Amino acid sequence: MSIQIFVPKDACAIACGADEVVAAIEAGARKRGQVVEIVRTGSRGMLWLEPLVEVATPAGRIAYGPVEESDVDGLFEAGLLQGGDHGLRIGRPEEHPFMARQTRLTFARCGIIDPASYKDYVAHGGYKGLERALQLGPAEIIEEVKKSGLRGRGGAGFPTAIKWKTVADAQADRKYIVCNADEGDSGTFADRMIMEGDPFQLIEGMTIAGIAVGATKGFVYTRSEYPHAIWAMQKAIEVARAHGMLGVNIAGSQHSFDMEVRMGAGAYVCGEETALLDSLEGGRGTVRAKPPLPAHKGLFQKPTVINNVLSLVAVPHILADGAQKYVDFGMGRSRGTMPIQIAGNVKFGGLFETAFGITLGELVNDIGGGTASGRPVKAAQVGGPLGAYVPTWQFDLPFDYEAFAAKDALIGHGGIVVFDEAADMVKMARFAMEFCSVESCGKCTPCRIGSTRGVEVIDRIASGEKVEQNLVVLKDLCQTMKLGSLCALGGFTPYPVLSALTHFPEEFGDTSVAGAGRLEAAE
Ligand SMILES: Cc1cc2nc3c(=O)[nH]c(=O)nc-3n(C[C@H](O)[C@H](O)[C@H](O)COP(=O)(O)O)c2cc1C
Ligand code: SF4
Repeated sequence: MSIQIFVPKDACAIACGADEVVAAIEAGARKRGQVVEIVRTGSRGMLWLEPLVEVATPAGRIAYGPVEESDVDGLFEAGLLQGGDHGLRIGRPEEHPFMARQTRLTFARCGIIDPASYKDYVAHGGYKGLERALQLGPAEIIEEVKKSGLRGRGGAGFPTAIKWKTVADAQADRKYIVCNADEGDSGTFADRMIMEGDPFQLIEGMTIAGIAVGATKGFVYTRSEYPHAIWAMQKAIEVARAHGMLGVNIAGSQHSFDMEVRMGAGAYVCGEETALLDSLEGGRGTVRAKPPLPAHKGLFQKPTVINNVLSLVAVPHILADGAQKYVDFGMGRSRGTMPIQIAGNVKFGGLFETAFGITLGELVNDIGGGTASGRPVKAAQVGGPLGAYVPTWQFDLPFDYEAFAAKDALIGHGGIVVFDEAADMVKMARFAMEFCSVESCGKCTPCRIGSTRGVEVIDRIASGEKVEQNLVVLKDLCQTMKLGSLCALGGFTPYPVLSALTHFPEEFGDTSVAGAGRLEAAE
């Protein structure tokens, strides 16, 4: 009888040697006359343990990690196929503290199922949301999404149902669903993990969105750096079509919906929804002035829903289990769960899905285990390159859109990048301005010119040149960028710069307000 062994085909696991480990397991089994069936899954999200190898045993799956090619013979000797004891054995993955503390809705199947298997998807609750959506019809689907309190996970936290209703109410011969899978934020990988580990879920979410607003065509826009995700999505789309779940009369209903994957070159600004549309239409990604909103005039000037991957994959759960179950998670106006990505200088980096409300300190110190370097944590940048540096004395901040905004910070796409005390905050501030100057689409002056001037001013401060005066110029420049930029690339770059300056003024030689941040914390 063959024994199932599960090894992720996730890009992170592959980068850590998963393919070589698979080859070694196959060779090891052949040598011993044992028959194994290797199933390539997505990742569980415990990225420091990749490649994580799991073996199906009568006691459930038993995991080992991180497994290197050279470990495989020893694992066989230790009774790998029976879940035997070994230094790399971590036991049942769902009982690992990193997994046991999570509330997995959108990532419930990731790392468990074969992402290319329709049968696996359905056996694990897939397409239940679409089934209910077909019973409800467009208006009630939108009502259910509204009741769930779902807000866009791409960064701005805009209520998903309002966007859908606007597109549903628009009159047009064609409408589109565009999935924003550009995932340009530093320290983020949740979109990629879902596309690689549970792609049918995104297909299901986009199909429900299409039915809700009357769109028959969808596009997943992602970047060329995500070849594994592109492959997995394309494969799943083919399989869904073959099962009648995409195309004409999906699932035997009167609704039609089909979709395809498009690849961008990886410009950060192409994640901004209107630049994305330009890129998707075949042009250079440049931000469009609003209005008109994409919901009125989007792709090819037609009404378009643009949602992040995580917003769309939440929808099948909301429909399948009812809005109330979703709304029961979270705090304030931040409802449901958030797949948080813990990265940077951290011991246990990975994907941690939990209800809103958990504090940043719990995420970085308890779950992330503090820094990988062993030095004390200094700050965490949350929400990508436009997010603020949150110092440790603000680590009691709960993960909640409003709580973060009140501290001039943002949750964004849920990425946390941890820094230890060796981080040079002047360099971090300079990097924010430099990043903006490199990635600026060039359409508006505060961003295009301001970011370059920002780099120069910070350089002058760093070299001790007229520090007091240049700090005034830097703050003034940040204010101009905040107020005068057309989109959030120029408009939010001041947040990492000013947070570094506010919380670590002494590093900039700003003696006037030294320790201001810590004083605020003490109040
Ligand atoms: C410079 C810039 C980059 C962005 N990058 C992304 C991205 O990579 N992925 C994403 O979903 N949203 C990104 N956004 C936000 C999108 O413009 C848009 O708000 C989002 O796709 C809407 O989906 P949601 O309502 O589901 O969040 C970016 C915005 C800006 C200004
Ligand atoms: S802020 Fe920057 S990226 Fe945004 S429109 Fe202006 S120049 Fe383009």
